[in-house]
Formats: sequence, C-alpha cells, structure tokens
Amino acid sequence: MIEWRMIERGIEDRVGMIYDSWLLILPYFFQLSTICQPAMPLEKQDILSHFTGRFGQSPRFVIRAPGRVNLIGEHTDYNDGFVLPLAIDRAVWIALRPREDRRVVVHSIDYQQSGEFSLDHLQNEKSGWIEYIKGTAWALADAGFQLTGWEGVMQGDVPLGAGLSSSAALEMATARAFAAAGDLAWNAAAMAKLGQRAENRWVGVNCGIMDQLISAAGQADHALLIDCRSLDTQPVPFPAGVAVVVLDTSTRRGLVDSAYNERRSQCEAAAKFFGVTALRDVTIEQFRKSADGLDAVTRRRALHVITENDRTLQAAEAMRSGDAVALGQLMQQSHVSLRDDYEVSSDALNTMVECASAYHACYGARMTGAGFGGCAMALIRAEAADDFVRCTSAAYQEKTGHVPAVYVCRATNGAEVVG
Ligand code: GLA
Repeated sequence: MIEWRMIERGIEDRVGMIYDSWLLILPYFFQLSTICQPAMPLEKQDILSHFTGRFGQSPRFVIRAPGRVNLIGEHTDYNDGFVLPLAIDRAVWIALRPREDRRVVVHSIDYQQSGEFSLDHLQNEKSGWIEYIKGTAWALADAGFQLTGWEGVMQGDVPLGAGLSSSAALEMATARAFAAAGDLAWNAAAMAKLGQRAENRWVGVNCGIMDQLISAAGQADHALLIDCRSLDTQPVPFPAGVAVVVLDTSTRRGLVDSAYNERRSQCEAAAKFFGVTALRDVTIEQFRKSADGLDAVTRRRALHVITENDRTLQAAEAMRSGDAVALGQLMQQSHVSLRDDYEVSSDALNTMVECASAYHACYGARMTGAGFGGCAMALIRAEAADDFVRCTSAAYQEKTGHVPAVYVCRATNGAEVVG
C-alpha cells in the first residue's frame, strides 16, 4: 500500500478487534509511519511478473477484488437498510494455478511472507493474513463447495485500517480464486455472504454485508444501491462531470470493535422497542410518534439509522437524475448525523470534511466506513479535482499536522477473473 503495497491484515475496519498478537499489528504500525502519497493503483502486469518470477511460467488465473468507498448509507447494513457504495481502483490481486493435492500455498508480496494450509485440516491459528484465506476456504467448504487447492502470489493496494475494506477485498479475491481453481459457479451475493461469514466467524469481526457485497458485485462507473435485507443490487450511474475523492486522514481508530458492537446492540434495542425486526422497518413518522419512550442515546442512534436509510434512497434518485448538488447535500447531512447522533466520527475526520467542504467545487463530503478514523470522501467537480487534492491536503495538514493521502478514485468492477 502506500508503500501501500502491504496487504491486508485484520487491521481493516476495526483495529483492536483481533489484535491479540503484536506480531499481527507490527506491520500495521510500520505502514502508518510510511503514509504519504499513494502510489499508482496496481495493475495486472505487477502480479503477473511476480508469479512468473516465482514459478517460471504464467499463472492459470489472475484475480482482482476491489476495496470500496461508501457514498452514503453508513451503519445501515446491519439494520437491514440501504447502502450506496462503489468498488474502487484499489484492490487485492491473486495470480494462481490449481494444485492436485488439496493444499493452498500463497506468497504475499506485501509481507514478503508465505503461508500454506491443507483443505483437509482447516484450523484457525490466528496467524495473520493467511487466516482470511483459510476462513474463506472454511466458509465455502462449510457451504458444500468442493474446493480445489492452488498456489500463487498475492498483492494489494487497499490501504489498511482506512475504512476502505481491505479485509473484504481479500476475502472476495480468495473466494474468486477458489471459484476459478475449482470451476465453481460464481454468485456474487452468495459469495459475499460466505465472505462475511468468514469475517464474522473465523476472523471474529462482527461486520455487516456491505463490504463483501460491493467487493463481489461492484460495477465499473457505477455505485451500487444495495438493499441489505434482500441483497438486491441496482447499479446507479454517476452524474456527469463529478469525481469521487478519497481523503485518508492518516489516523487510525482504536477500540473500534467495541464501539461498533455497542452501536449494533443499541440499534437492536431500538428495533425491539418499536416492535420490528430491524430499524429498516421504522419510518420517520413512527419514530416521531413514539421515540420519547427511548433513552436519549438510543433515540439518537435510531434517528441516524432511520434518516440515513431515507437519505440513501434519495441519493440514488439524485444520482439517477444527474443532480450532483442534491447528492452532495445528502452526503453532508449524513456526516452531521454520523458525527452528532451516531457519534462515530473523530476530530480528524471532522476537520477533513470541513477542509473539503470549504473548497468551491466540492458538492459534499463525509466520513466513510465504520468511523473513528480512516477516510472521508468527497464529491468534486471533475475538472477541479487536481486543485482540490492539493488545496485540501494542504489545509488539512496545516490544521492537524497529519500528512493525508488524498486521491481521485474510479468505480470499478467487483471481484473478477482478469486473465
Ligand atoms: C464497516 C462494516 C460494514 C458497515 C460499515 C459502516 O465497514 O464492515 O459492514 O457496517 O462499517 O457502514
């Protein structure tokens, strides 16, 4: 990665969740100290040459699975609600060839480390990045897929811990690799659910479905409106002349898992109070009528989720009608709601959003992902994007002393075999 060529670890969206081993977090801190300006996105040629360098021949398959940025619909996925993410041009790549002996042997270019395991003895050894691959193998096998072993190399450029879903990208790249090696049918929603299961049950992170589903099902040049209850996905085109800019605050969150789980419990309590399965089922009118019976904190949490679902549907409409101004305003409102009602923002994120919003050609900006650190994102008039990157980086650095990584990103396809 930045040196961002240092793949995933479970650091991902929720630092502190599974960091029971210092060995696992050391590469993360190393990486943080190197954050500055991102390299160009990885390309197929990069992973191809690593494979041929190692195996002396071309791979049978090259897989790419992207990270994501969420335009709007934050902390709604585990409430059966709506989200509007895009798959981005930062991804995990795997080049592989099948093996006969049911072993999986992977070399991580980023960690300069190899890992391997047998599909006949899947055991969780909490041993870092390889557990994401093993966990995904476990979820696929448990769902009845006949898996074939493979060997290959892996490389990624989704920044770690930035809220851009590096873990989900690794899980979906792995699922795609098994599908290619064993000629398995690829159903994006089903595979996303298995990736989520690996993350929940093997890695131990209680995430929703958004990250895996956008990484599996993303569409180039579009965001996806996802109904997290039905898993229905609808591609939504970007208004003409806008650019999506990722604004990495270069701060990373701590203890986010407990805060995330606490938010989930508060949402469940609120849904119970309203007598529904999930907050998705509560309208703003119902909320206004009876929310007084909730304690103040739970009420604010529920208010965020209910209004955010509504904003997300409106945002998809705004995109469809090419209305970047309306979309930007909804993003701005989302940020305020996350900051004040859901309370998952941070000083760095708020400052970044203020710096971005102050720029004349910015339609809107907000924190993205789980929160507490990591990235914000902004929607910009495309022709001003380069100047925006310069001005916002400088303004943020001056205010906080942190050196941010700010870059324009492109909406890409979800997990696919690219060669
Ligand atoms: C993390 C989780 C997602 C989602 C977001 C918040 O990224 O992995 O499932 O809950 O936080 O929108």
